Amino acid sequence: MDGTDTKAAAPVLILLGPPGAGKGTQARMLQERHGLVQLSTGDLLRAAVTAGTEAGNRARAVMDAGALVSDEIVIAILRDRLAEPDCARGVILDGFPRTPVQAEALDALLADSGQRINAAISLDVEDSAMVDRISGRFTCGACGEGYHDTFKPTAKPGTCDKCGSTEITRRSDDNAATVAQRLQAYHAQTAPLIAYYERAGALARVDAMGPIEEIAAELSATVTRATA
Ligand code: AP5
Repeated sequence: MDGTDTKAAAPVLILLGPPGAGKGTQARMLQERHGLVQLSTGDLLRAAVTAGTEAGNRARAVMDAGALVSDEIVIAILRDRLAEPDCARGVILDGFPRTPVQAEALDALLADSGQRINAAISLDVEDSAMVDRISGRFTCGACGEGYHDTFKPTAKPGTCDKCGSTEITRRSDDNAATVAQRLQAYHAQTAPLIAYYERAGALARVDAMGPIEEIAAELSATVTRATA
């Protein structure tokens, strides 16, 4: 792949970063601000687990252990989702690719449809912040909005600010032991993609240690530049 002109095709942005970096939080904000579709392989896999599909059943134990699901399963799920009509607006990939094999598969998929990656944006964070971020996370079970006990609480306890639902969920893999495994998997298997996209001229970096809104503003400016 390379990071050359993508103006004619629908934008493709990648958010890279360790568990808890804020990929999901920021991808949802970019979706609203830039009209792009958030594609989270974590969300797609959790939906497959809940639906009890064959892929979901194979992925469940791997996810609970904090390891990466096989490239074969994840690439198939992502390929099917990318083929859906709404993705023609452009996409923000959240949590994909996570291995060199996935990165190469994405390049091939995009080449088939005349698309290329506008930018792969690394959310740079310190590992020490991740356990606090992840252990305080909760999500609205109705609309999917993400929150944090300390850093992003709901205005009214137990009620989603966005849709008013009281259906609050916490992820089964959000515990200290699994977070350590997920961080290890990130450094061993995913962090090398930063160099992959740097070589391709597609890498952008954003300091993701500050407040959510400040990071969102910097990311939004980065996306505007990358899709101009
Ligand atoms: P996935 O669902 O992708 O989880 P993850 O990468 O571990 O990332 P998280 O969702 O935990 O974090 P995030 O960066 O989205 O942070 P968030 O915005 O929620 O993957 C789960 C599992 O699925 C994997 O372990 C693997 O098994 C499997 N999987 C998924 N994709 C795969 C693939 N491609 N290949 C193989 N396996 C795959 O923020 C976290 C919390 O912090 C929130 O509460 C938020 O409110 C808060 N927060 C966010 N930003 C800030 C900030 N700036 N300051 C303070 N708090 C903040």
